[in-house]
Amino acid sequence: MKEVERLIRPDLLTLKPYSSARDDFKGKAEVFIDANENPFDNKINRYPDPLQRKLKDQISLIKSIPVDSIFLGNGSDEVLDLIIRLFCVPGTDELIITPPTYGMYKVLAAINNIFITEVPLDSNFQLVVESILKRYNRNSKILFLCSPNNPVGNVLNRKDVIKLLETFPGIVVIDEAYIDFTNEESYIKLIQTYPNLIVIQTFSKAWGMAGLRLGMAFSNAYTIGQLNKIKPPYNINVLTQEAALEKLQDTKTFKKNKKLIISERKLLVDQLSLLPIIKKIHQSDANFILAEFDNANESYAKLLEEGIVVRNRTNEIGCKNCLRITVGTPEENIRIIKTLETLS
Ligand SMILES: Cc1ncc(COP(=O)(O)O)c(C=O)c1O
Repeated sequence: MKEVERLIRPDLLTLKPYSSARDDFKGKAEVFIDANENPFDNKINRYPDPLQRKLKDQISLIKSIPVDSIFLGNGSDEVLDLIIRLFCVPGTDELIITPPTYGMYKVLAAINNIFITEVPLDSNFQLVVESILKRYNRNSKILFLCSPNNPVGNVLNRKDVIKLLETFPGIVVIDEAYIDFTNEESYIKLIQTYPNLIVIQTFSKAWGMAGLRLGMAFSNAYTIGQLNKIKPPYNINVLTQEAALEKLQDTKTFKKNKKLIISERKLLVDQLSLLPIIKKIHQSDANFILAEFDNANESYAKLLEEGIVVRNRTNEIGCKNCLRITVGTPEENIRIIKTLETLS
């Protein structure tokens, strides 16, 4: 896959990955004395399957995507980190991000000593395609897009994203952490069409497994193979693999909770827009809303005094006086509405 290979860190192309004796063994074994494990069974005494085969089989069914197009990480934060490491040469390469957006892109770039170029979204929180393309240089290895975007909650215009997939010469990562809360179509179906596309999703949001730490990347088999080469061999632990497999069977609860979160989002928007201290609520296709307050810092502090923690985004580009409020349980949502009513 030439289009992707030319973007990979040259030293990693020749990396010989770690391999365990169990990777080499293809038959059926009964005695495992190869990995210096403790032999006494307590359910977690063995190393996990490094390629998480059972779990990927299940994800493959849910997402209608082949197993060799799926990569799993310890949360999507680990997936994002590995993508940066795979493509970007520290001290030389850069990422393009479009603020306001998810804060970890910048942090991960800094940790990996990768430069950041920021091309802010326009006043409608949409991409400025021409500016992104203008800022591209041959060290701009990755463009990070987030749709629905955090912290605003809106979906990026599809025609802009497609234009970038067709014209941006580097890797395009589309972070779909909140995809289950929108009716917009995922870009997952396009991974075979665009070799430079990597779609990220997570089980931390609609699936309700943030504590497990399980994130996904979907891309062509070549890119997924390269990520497998550089990941820590046992990055998804036994308990996570087992618990996720069990939770993924329960699609009924997943659908029920997702529907409730979406209807509660509407209730929050309807009720909060009546309050005089709130000037605007941005359109959201995620499980949170971004609300512009008269004075965000003041409202944030008062909410904290009442024991309610929201996210203060007032210092983010384009988000002056904005607080991000996650949709909670119906009881929690009533509580935040009532508390804000008393502050109005
Ligand atoms: C846009 C976005 N991407 C990724 C993540 C990280 O998710 P995970 O829990 O899978 O690491 C978050 C978490 O808030 C997010 O908002």
